[in-house]
Amino acid sequence: MLLEIRDLSMIFGGLAALRDVSFSLAEGEILGLIGPNGAGKTTLFNVITAFLTPTRGEVRLAGEPLTGLRTSRITERGVCRTFQNIRLFDQMTVEENVMVGRHCRSRAGVWSSVLRTGSQKKEEGAIREKTRELLSLVGLSGHDQDLAANLPYGLQRRLEIARALAGEPRLILLDEPVAGMNDQETEEIAGLIHKIRDFGITILLIEHDMSMVMKVCDRLVVLNFGEKIAEGTPQEIQSDPLVIEAYLGREEGD
Ligand SMILES: Nc1ncnc2c1ncn2[C@@H]1O[C@H](COP(=O)(O)OP(=O)(O)O)[C@@H](O)[C@H]1O
Ligand SMILES: [Mg+2]
Repeated sequence: MLLEIRDLSMIFGGLAALRDVSFSLAEGEILGLIGPNGAGKTTLFNVITAFLTPTRGEVRLAGEPLTGLRTSRITERGVCRTFQNIRLFDQMTVEENVMVGRHCRSRAGVWSSVLRTGSQKKEEGAIREKTRELLSLVGLSGHDQDLAANLPYGLQRRLEIARALAGEPRLILLDEPVAGMNDQETEEIAGLIHKIRDFGITILLIEHDMSMVMKVCDRLVVLNFGEKIAEGTPQEIQSDPLVIEAYLGREEGD
């Protein structure tokens, strides 16, 4: 298994945002994480990437514990993410935002490029080339010199994905990548997610758009009030009475 979540709990004061959650993710899989608002989905991402320290439990990547490592170490091990609330460097260009994502993989580091040696220049050239490829992949070609702040919302979401990919992840965590997008944009992001998987990258996807999740994911895990209430194929989940009660049945009324 590429990712193993074992008996994970995250307690805030009296509130269990996650309670004894366990599941795993095979290499190359697209796993959807669904559940109502406040179910603990983003908290799980925050624990995996060490933005939060879990109260109990463990996260392993390819058999090695991630729990206890710092965020930057976890990125180096190959786990990159996007954020539900977009977190770009607003006053940097699109290209620079992607290059920051690349930082953990470059020996010289983007920031030391002031004192450029020959080999650093070469490395920088390679990084720019890789950046162009990533921007083309996510549909941002031609925007490389735009300020991130000036991109329309949908393109900012794409830039978040490009930045995460720049870290050369084995596992990418996408937190509601199509939130606020229309049907056509959603369709395009679904296509992009499949392309990412075809590169051999494993995907953990938090998403509210049920038709997208059903189409894109191999398997789903359902959280409700911090607990895993179901796990299975999209077909199994769609007909699971607990899930319908907690989540699916309420969708139209929300
Ligand atoms: N840093 C935090 N401190 C206190 N409570 C938090 C924190 N992060 C999340 N929570 C709470 O944990 C619960 C789960 O939140 P979250 O993981 O964001 O849910 P979801 O992403 O499924 O909508 C919510 O009740 C939220 O208010
Ligand atoms: Mg969330």
